[in-house]
Amino acid sequence: MNAFIDFIMGPMVWIAFLIFILGLILKLVMIIKDVNARESYVYSYLTWKHSLRSIFAWLIPFFPQSTKQSPIFYSISYIFHLLLFIVPIFLMSHIVLVNEAFQVSWMALDDGVADILTLVVIFALVFFAIRRMMVPEVKYLTSFTDYILILIVALPFITGFLAYHQFFLYRWMVIAHVISGEMMLILIPFSRFSHMIVAPLTRAYIGSEFGNVRHAKDW
Ligand code: HEM
Ligand code: HEM
Repeated sequence: MNAFIDFIMGPMVWIAFLIFILGLILKLVMIIKDVNARESYVYSYLTWKHSLRSIFAWLIPFFPQSTKQSPIFYSISYIFHLLLFIVPIFLMSHIVLVNEAFQVSWMALDDGVADILTLVVIFALVFFAIRRMMVPEVKYLTSFTDYILILIVALPFITGFLAYHQFFLYRWMVIAHVISGEMMLILIPFSRFSHMIVAPLTRAYIGSEFGNVRHAKDW
């Protein structure tokens, strides 16, 4: 049992990060191969200018029309995505671990602030789950897997929060936290969360088609 826990808390952390990064690269290569094989005409109008223009327009809060039509969902989604990256990267506990391994460090969030932001992320994920149950046109497209995926993103935040506060079973909570963090990272390239790569590519494609072919805006 101890050897298993040592593995989970040690080498598996690096393996998870490697699968996450290599998995995303593999995903990108597969998309490019697929486009080359089936829709290579896309290259006739794909441009950096129209791609970047669309990606940046969609990064500005409430700039695109459709985001104005669902202001609550988009506000929460925007804040959620920012915090999903900011909280784990700038968390003191995480920076300390990186520093022990690589002797590098960077500025950290105040622990109290990180704690509140963690609750904001958990709230956002509860909101996404409830929205999937309540909004008919979203419910129609929702399967059980969608709820599981939301839970998989929530778990590292819930267990991280519980471990930090040492409410109960501290050691087990840290182990559960690391396992859930590894699981989330590993699943990103192979689940719907590969939209991390797909979403900007979709913007590039639609942005170029609108900008370069139809001479219109896609936001
Ligand atoms: C996979 C490797 C990971 C390791 C080794 C790790 C390690 C840790 C440690 C040691 C703590 C502090 C617990 C304490 O205070 O005793 C912590 C807290 C936390 N971690 Fe991680 N973590 C990992 C992944 C993640 C991921 C992927 C996320 C989120 C995307 C995450 C989010 C958090 C949060 C939100 C907290 C607590 C913040 C708070 O309420 O103050 N961690 N982590
Ligand atoms: C930088 C990379 C990412 C981009 C550009 C992105 C973009 C998006 C977009 C466009 C949506 C649809 C809703 C909306 O328009 O706001 C969305 C929803 C969502 N994304 Fe991301 N995303 C990224 C990374 C991630 C990652 C890494 C995760 C999880 C690990 C994630 C989890 C989610 C969740 C949970 C939702 C809500 C889905 C639901 O309703 O169930 N995103 N994202």
